[in-house]
Amino acid sequence: MSHLLCVAPMMDVTDRHCRFFHRLLAPNSRLYTEMITANAVLKGNTAKLLEFDSRESPVALQLGGSDPKLLAIASRIGSEMGYEEINLNCGCPSKRVVSGNFGASLMQSPNLVADCVKSMIDSSANLVTVKHRLAIDENEDYGFTHKFVQTVESAGCRVFIVHARNAFLGGLSPKKNRVVPPVKMHYVKQLKKDFPNCSFIANGGLSSVGKCMDVLNLKGSIKKSESIDGVMLGREAISNPWILVELEKVLFSSNSNLPSYPGSIVENLQRYFETQVNVGLKPTQITRNWLHLFKNYRGSKIWRHSLTSGMSPVEAYKKANFLPFAG
Ligand SMILES: Cc1cc2nc3c(=O)[nH]c(=O)nc-3n(C[C@H](O)[C@H](O)[C@H](O)COP(=O)(O)O)c2cc1C
Repeated sequence: MSHLLCVAPMMDVTDRHCRFFHRLLAPNSRLYTEMITANAVLKGNTAKLLEFDSRESPVALQLGGSDPKLLAIASRIGSEMGYEEINLNCGCPSKRVVSGNFGASLMQSPNLVADCVKSMIDSSANLVTVKHRLAIDENEDYGFTHKFVQTVESAGCRVFIVHARNAFLGGLSPKKNRVVPPVKMHYVKQLKKDFPNCSFIANGGLSSVGKCMDVLNLKGSIKKSESIDGVMLGREAISNPWILVELEKVLFSSNSNLPSYPGSIVENLQRYFETQVNVGLKPTQITRNWLHLFKNYRGSKIWRHSLTSGMSPVEAYKKANFLPFAG
Protein backbone atom coordinates (compact mmCIF):
# COMPACT_ATOMS: atom_id res chain seq x y z
CA MET A 1 0.00 0.00 0.00
CA SER A 2 1.25 3.47 -0.86
CA HIS A 3 1.77 6.45 1.44
CA LEU A 4 -0.69 8.63 -0.47
CA LEU A 5 -2.83 9.12 2.63
CA CYS A 6 -1.32 8.72 6.10
CA VAL A 7 -2.54 9.48 9.60
CA ALA A 8 0.22 10.88 11.78
CA PRO A 9 1.72 9.26 14.85
CA MET A 10 0.31 11.09 17.88
CA MET A 11 1.25 10.34 21.43
CA ASP A 12 -1.72 9.53 23.67
CA VAL A 13 -3.96 9.65 20.60
CA THR A 14 -3.22 7.09 17.89
CA ASP A 15 -3.58 4.03 20.09
CA ARG A 16 -5.09 0.88 18.63
CA HIS A 17 -8.69 1.96 19.30
CA CYS A 18 -8.10 5.20 17.42
CA ARG A 19 -6.48 3.32 14.55
CA PHE A 20 -9.37 0.86 14.34
CA PHE A 21 -11.68 3.86 14.00
CA HIS A 22 -9.52 5.54 11.35
CA ARG A 23 -9.28 2.31 9.39
CA LEU A 24 -13.09 2.20 9.04
CA LEU A 25 -13.03 5.73 7.64
CA ALA A 26 -10.00 5.33 5.39
CA PRO A 27 -9.46 1.76 4.13
CA ASN A 28 -6.52 2.77 1.90
CA SER A 29 -4.66 4.88 4.43
CA ARG A 30 -1.46 4.07 6.27
CA LEU A 31 -1.72 4.39 10.03
CA TYR A 32 1.04 5.06 12.57
CA THR A 33 1.41 4.14 16.21
CA GLU A 34 2.27 6.69 18.85
CA MET A 35 6.03 6.98 19.32
CA ILE A 36 7.29 4.08 21.41
CA THR A 37 10.90 4.20 22.58
CA ALA A 38 13.19 1.37 21.61
CA ASN A 39 13.97 1.01 25.31
CA ALA A 40 10.31 0.49 26.14
CA VAL A 41 10.00 -2.14 23.41
CA LEU A 42 12.95 -4.02 24.87
CA LYS A 43 12.32 -3.54 28.57
CA GLY A 44 8.60 -2.87 28.93
CA ASN A 45 5.60 -5.13 28.51
CA THR A 46 6.31 -5.64 24.82
CA ALA A 47 3.20 -7.66 23.98
CA LYS A 48 0.92 -5.07 25.58
CA LEU A 49 2.77 -2.10 24.08
CA LEU A 50 2.80 -3.43 20.55
CA GLU A 51 -0.42 -5.46 20.32
CA PHE A 52 -2.79 -4.45 17.57
CA ASP A 53 -5.83 -5.78 15.76
CA SER A 54 -5.03 -7.17 12.31
CA ARG A 55 -8.00 -5.19 10.94
CA GLU A 56 -5.94 -2.01 11.52
CA SER A 57 -3.30 -3.03 8.97
CA PRO A 58 -1.22 -1.64 7.41
CA VAL A 59 0.24 -0.04 10.53
CA ALA A 60 3.66 1.54 10.92
CA LEU A 61 5.41 1.32 14.25
CA GLN A 62 7.10 4.58 15.17
CA LEU A 63 10.21 4.16 17.28
CA GLY A 64 12.08 6.73 19.33
CA GLY A 65 15.72 6.28 20.12
CA SER A 66 19.25 6.93 18.96
CA ASP A 67 21.10 3.72 19.75
CA PRO A 68 21.50 1.73 16.52
CA LYS A 69 21.68 -1.61 18.36
CA LEU A 70 18.55 -1.04 20.45
CA LEU A 71 16.67 0.29 17.43
CA ALA A 72 17.69 -2.78 15.44
CA ILE A 73 16.30 -5.14 18.06
CA ALA A 74 13.11 -3.09 18.49
CA SER A 75 12.62 -3.03 14.69
CA ARG A 76 12.97 -6.80 14.48
CA ILE A 77 10.44 -7.27 17.27
CA GLY A 78 8.09 -4.82 15.50
CA SER A 79 8.26 -6.67 12.22
CA GLU A 80 7.74 -10.02 13.95
CA MET A 81 4.62 -8.55 15.58
CA GLY A 82 3.18 -7.77 12.13
CA TYR A 83 3.93 -4.07 11.61
CA GLU A 84 4.43 -3.24 7.93
CA GLU A 85 6.78 -0.33 8.39
CA ILE A 86 9.17 0.86 11.06
CA ASN A 87 9.50 4.62 11.34
CA LEU A 88 12.20 6.52 13.19
CA ASN A 89 11.13 9.70 14.97
CA CYS A 90 13.46 12.62 14.18
CA GLY A 91 10.88 15.32 14.82
CA CYS A 92 9.70 15.29 18.43
CA PRO A 93 10.86 18.47 20.22
CA SER A 94 9.71 17.60 23.75
CA LYS A 95 12.22 18.29 26.53
CA ARG A 96 12.18 14.70 27.72
CA VAL A 97 12.90 13.35 24.23
CA VAL A 98 15.53 15.95 23.42
CA SER A 99 17.33 15.37 26.74
CA GLY A 100 17.41 11.67 25.80
CA ASN A 101 19.17 12.77 22.59
CA PHE A 102 16.57 11.53 20.16
CA GLY A 103 13.51 12.94 18.38
CA ALA A 104 14.15 16.31 16.72
CA SER A 105 17.64 16.65 18.18
CA LEU A 106 18.69 13.85 15.82
CA MET A 107 18.43 16.33 12.95
CA GLN A 108 21.74 17.69 14.21
CA SER A 109 23.39 14.28 13.82
CA PRO A 110 22.56 13.00 10.33
CA ASN A 111 25.41 10.46 10.47
CA LEU A 112 23.98 8.94 13.62
CA VAL A 113 20.52 8.79 11.98
CA ALA A 114 22.14 7.04 9.01
CA ASP A 115 23.72 4.49 11.38
CA CYS A 116 20.38 3.93 13.09
CA VAL A 117 18.55 3.51 9.79
CA LYS A 118 21.16 1.13 8.46
CA SER A 119 20.97 -1.15 11.45
CA MET A 120 17.16 -1.02 11.41
CA ILE A 121 17.15 -2.01 7.73
CA ASP A 122 19.68 -4.79 8.36
CA SER A 123 17.67 -6.25 11.21
CA SER A 124 14.16 -6.33 9.78
CA ALA A 125 12.54 -7.27 6.51
CA ASN A 126 10.30 -4.21 6.74
CA LEU A 127 10.25 -0.86 5.11
CA VAL A 128 12.20 1.59 7.29
CA THR A 129 11.19 5.24 7.06
CA VAL A 130 12.11 8.49 8.81
CA LYS A 131 9.84 11.29 10.02
CA HIS A 132 11.69 14.55 10.45
CA ARG A 133 11.46 18.33 10.59
CA LEU A 134 13.14 20.76 8.18
CA ALA A 135 15.82 22.02 10.56
CA ILE A 136 16.48 23.14 14.10
CA ASP A 137 15.80 26.53 15.70
CA GLU A 138 16.34 29.49 13.36
CA ASN A 139 18.20 27.64 10.64
CA GLU A 140 16.37 28.52 7.38
CA ASP A 141 18.96 26.93 5.12
CA TYR A 142 17.46 24.42 2.67
CA GLY A 143 20.99 23.03 2.32
CA PHE A 144 20.71 21.70 5.89
CA THR A 145 17.55 19.73 5.08
CA HIS A 146 19.06 18.50 1.81
CA LYS A 147 22.20 17.27 3.58
CA PHE A 148 20.13 15.48 6.22
CA VAL A 149 18.07 13.64 3.60
CA GLN A 150 21.13 12.88 1.47
CA THR A 151 22.99 11.34 4.43
CA VAL A 152 20.01 9.25 5.54
CA GLU A 153 19.24 8.21 1.97
CA SER A 154 22.79 6.92 1.60
CA ALA A 155 22.05 4.51 4.47
CA GLY A 156 19.15 3.04 2.48
CA CYS A 157 16.12 5.07 3.56
CA ARG A 158 13.77 5.73 0.64
CA VAL A 159 10.70 7.17 2.34
CA PHE A 160 10.79 10.48 4.22
CA ILE A 161 7.87 11.97 6.09
CA VAL A 162 8.53 15.65 6.39
CA HIS A 163 6.83 17.74 9.04
CA ALA A 164 7.53 20.86 7.02
CA ARG A 165 8.50 23.14 9.90
CA ASN A 166 11.61 23.76 11.93
CA ALA A 167 11.71 22.46 15.49
CA PHE A 168 12.69 24.91 18.21
CA LEU A 169 14.52 22.96 20.85
CA GLY A 170 14.87 25.63 23.51
CA GLY A 171 11.84 27.50 24.73
CA LEU A 172 8.87 26.26 22.68
CA SER A 173 6.57 23.57 24.05
CA PRO A 174 5.70 20.66 21.71
CA LYS A 175 2.27 22.28 21.22
CA LYS A 176 3.77 25.63 20.16
CA ASN A 177 6.29 23.75 18.03
CA ARG A 178 3.32 22.59 15.93
CA VAL A 179 2.06 26.13 15.41
CA VAL A 180 4.76 28.79 15.68
CA PRO A 181 7.43 27.72 13.16
CA PRO A 182 6.01 28.44 9.68
CA VAL A 183 5.12 25.58 7.32
CA LYS A 184 7.39 25.52 4.24
CA MET A 185 5.89 23.01 1.84
CA HIS A 186 8.11 24.31 -0.96
CA TYR A 187 11.05 22.67 0.83
CA VAL A 188 9.31 19.29 0.53
CA LYS A 189 8.65 19.90 -3.16
CA GLN A 190 12.30 20.78 -3.64
CA LEU A 191 13.37 17.58 -1.87
CA LYS A 192 11.24 15.58 -4.30
CA LYS A 193 12.97 17.31 -7.23
CA ASP A 194 16.42 16.69 -5.73
CA PHE A 195 15.76 13.07 -4.75
CA PRO A 196 13.32 11.78 -7.40
CA ASN A 197 13.92 8.14 -6.41
CA CYS A 198 12.73 8.72 -2.86
CA SER A 199 9.17 9.17 -1.62
CA PHE A 200 8.29 12.30 0.30
CA ILE A 201 5.17 12.58 2.42
CA ALA A 202 4.14 16.11 3.38
CA ASN A 203 2.93 16.85 6.89
CA GLY A 204 2.00 20.01 8.75
CA GLY A 205 -1.18 22.07 8.78
CA LEU A 206 -3.01 20.01 6.14
CA SER A 207 -6.48 20.79 7.41
CA SER A 208 -8.64 20.57 4.28
CA VAL A 209 -9.05 18.42 1.19
CA GLY A 210 -8.08 21.44 -0.91
CA LYS A 211 -4.77 21.93 0.91
CA CYS A 212 -3.94 18.24 0.46
CA MET A 213 -4.77 18.38 -3.25
CA ASP A 214 -2.63 21.50 -3.66
CA VAL A 215 0.38 20.00 -2.00
CA LEU A 216 0.01 16.80 -4.01
CA ASN A 217 -0.27 18.92 -7.13
CA LEU A 218 -3.32 16.93 -8.16
CA LYS A 219 -5.51 18.18 -10.95
CA GLY A 220 -8.48 15.85 -11.21
CA SER A 221 -6.84 12.60 -10.23
CA ILE A 222 -3.76 12.78 -12.42
CA LYS A 223 -0.57 12.68 -10.43
CA LYS A 224 2.52 14.15 -12.04
CA SER A 225 5.74 12.22 -11.63
CA GLU A 226 7.56 15.10 -9.95
CA SER A 227 4.79 15.56 -7.37
CA ILE A 228 5.28 14.61 -3.77
CA ASP A 229 4.05 11.16 -2.85
CA GLY A 230 1.56 11.57 -0.08
CA VAL A 231 0.02 13.59 2.69
CA MET A 232 -0.01 12.92 6.41
CA LEU A 233 -2.71 14.42 8.60
CA GLY A 234 -2.42 14.80 12.34
CA ARG A 235 -4.72 17.06 14.32
CA GLU A 236 -7.38 17.37 11.62
CA ALA A 237 -7.90 13.60 11.63
CA ILE A 238 -8.80 13.89 15.31
CA SER A 239 -10.92 17.04 15.34
CA ASN A 240 -12.63 16.22 12.03
CA PRO A 241 -12.18 12.50 11.27
CA TRP A 242 -14.69 12.57 8.40
CA ILE A 243 -12.02 14.35 6.32
CA LEU A 244 -10.45 10.90 5.93
CA VAL A 245 -13.52 9.68 4.05
CA GLU A 246 -13.45 12.80 1.87
CA LEU A 247 -9.78 12.26 1.08
CA GLU A 248 -10.35 8.58 0.30
CA LYS A 249 -12.99 9.62 -2.23
CA VAL A 250 -10.69 11.96 -4.12
CA LEU A 251 -7.43 10.04 -3.82
CA PHE A 252 -8.38 6.41 -4.46
CA SER A 253 -10.47 4.72 -7.09
CA SER A 254 -10.95 1.48 -5.09
CA ASN A 255 -13.10 2.96 -2.39
CA SER A 256 -16.43 1.19 -2.72
CA ASN A 257 -16.45 0.24 1.00
CA LEU A 258 -16.51 3.81 2.23
CA PRO A 259 -19.15 4.78 4.77
CA SER A 260 -21.76 7.10 3.32
CA TYR A 261 -22.64 8.80 6.60
CA PRO A 262 -20.91 8.78 10.03
CA GLY A 263 -23.78 6.69 11.42
CA SER A 264 -22.92 3.86 9.05
CA ILE A 265 -19.87 2.85 11.09
CA VAL A 266 -21.55 2.95 14.50
CA GLU A 267 -22.60 -0.72 14.55
CA ASN A 268 -19.08 -1.72 13.59
CA LEU A 269 -17.68 0.45 16.37
CA GLN A 270 -20.18 -1.14 18.76
CA ARG A 271 -19.00 -4.68 17.96
CA TYR A 272 -15.39 -3.64 18.50
CA PHE A 273 -16.31 -1.77 21.69
CA GLU A 274 -18.05 -4.85 23.12
CA THR A 275 -15.07 -7.12 22.51
CA GLN A 276 -12.78 -4.63 24.24
CA VAL A 277 -15.10 -4.12 27.22
CA ASN A 278 -15.34 -7.90 27.54
CA VAL A 279 -11.59 -8.12 28.02
CA GLY A 280 -11.74 -5.53 30.80
CA LEU A 281 -11.09 -2.15 29.16
CA LYS A 282 -12.83 0.99 30.37
CA PRO A 283 -15.40 2.32 27.85
CA THR A 284 -13.90 5.83 27.79
CA GLN A 285 -10.43 4.42 27.12
CA ILE A 286 -11.81 2.81 23.96
CA THR A 287 -13.95 5.68 22.68
CA ARG A 288 -11.87 8.75 23.62
CA ASN A 289 -10.78 9.40 20.03
CA TRP A 290 -14.17 8.70 18.46
CA LEU A 291 -15.72 11.88 19.88
CA HIS A 292 -15.67 14.03 16.75
CA LEU A 293 -17.17 11.54 14.31
CA PHE A 294 -20.34 13.61 14.03
CA LYS A 295 -18.68 17.02 13.84
CA ASN A 296 -21.12 19.60 12.43
CA TYR A 297 -24.14 17.30 12.87
CA ARG A 298 -26.94 18.28 15.16
CA GLY A 299 -26.60 15.95 18.16
CA SER A 300 -22.81 15.92 17.99
CA LYS A 301 -22.47 17.40 21.48
CA ILE A 302 -24.76 14.74 22.96
CA TRP A 303 -22.73 12.01 21.18
CA ARG A 304 -19.52 13.42 22.69
CA HIS A 305 -20.92 13.79 26.19
CA SER A 306 -22.48 10.34 26.09
CA LEU A 307 -19.22 8.68 25.09
CA THR A 308 -17.25 10.61 27.69
CA SER A 309 -19.71 9.49 30.33
CA GLY A 310 -19.01 5.86 29.41
CA MET A 311 -21.89 4.99 27.07
CA SER A 312 -21.45 2.56 24.20
CA PRO A 313 -21.52 3.88 20.61
CA VAL A 314 -25.03 2.55 19.96
CA GLU A 315 -26.38 4.04 23.20
CA ALA A 316 -24.72 7.39 22.41
CA TYR A 317 -26.09 7.31 18.87
CA LYS A 318 -29.64 6.74 20.06
CA LYS A 319 -29.33 9.37 22.79
CA ALA A 320 -28.16 11.92 20.21
CA ASN A 321 -31.20 11.14 18.11
CA PHE A 322 -29.31 10.73 14.86
CA LEU A 323 -30.92 9.02 11.86
CA PRO A 324 -32.08 5.46 12.56
CA PHE A 325 -29.74 2.72 11.27
CA ALA A 326 -30.55 1.57 7.77
CA GLY A 327 -31.66 -2.03 7.33
C1 LIG B 1 -1.17 15.16 20.50
C2 LIG B 1 -0.04 15.00 19.51
C3 LIG B 1 0.91 14.02 19.73
C4 LIG B 1 1.96 13.85 18.81
N1 LIG B 1 2.82 12.81 18.99
C5 LIG B 1 3.74 12.53 18.02
C6 LIG B 1 4.53 11.35 18.05
O1 LIG B 1 4.41 10.49 18.96
N2 LIG B 1 5.44 11.16 17.04
C7 LIG B 1 5.58 12.06 16.00
O2 LIG B 1 6.40 11.86 15.11
N3 LIG B 1 4.84 13.18 15.95
C8 LIG B 1 3.91 13.41 16.89
N4 LIG B 1 3.10 14.49 16.78
C9 LIG B 1 3.24 15.37 15.60
C10 LIG B 1 2.32 14.88 14.48
O3 LIG B 1 2.69 13.59 14.04
C11 LIG B 1 2.39 15.85 13.28
O4 LIG B 1 3.71 15.85 12.79
C12 LIG B 1 2.02 17.28 13.67
O5 LIG B 1 0.86 17.31 14.47
C13 LIG B 1 1.81 18.14 12.42
O6 LIG B 1 0.75 17.65 11.65
P1 LIG B 1 -0.73 18.34 11.68
O7 LIG B 1 -0.52 19.81 11.43
O8 LIG B 1 -1.49 17.66 10.59
O9 LIG B 1 -1.29 18.09 13.05
C14 LIG B 1 2.06 14.69 17.68
C15 LIG B 1 1.08 15.68 17.48
C16 LIG B 1 0.04 15.82 18.36
C17 LIG B 1 -1.02 16.87 18.10
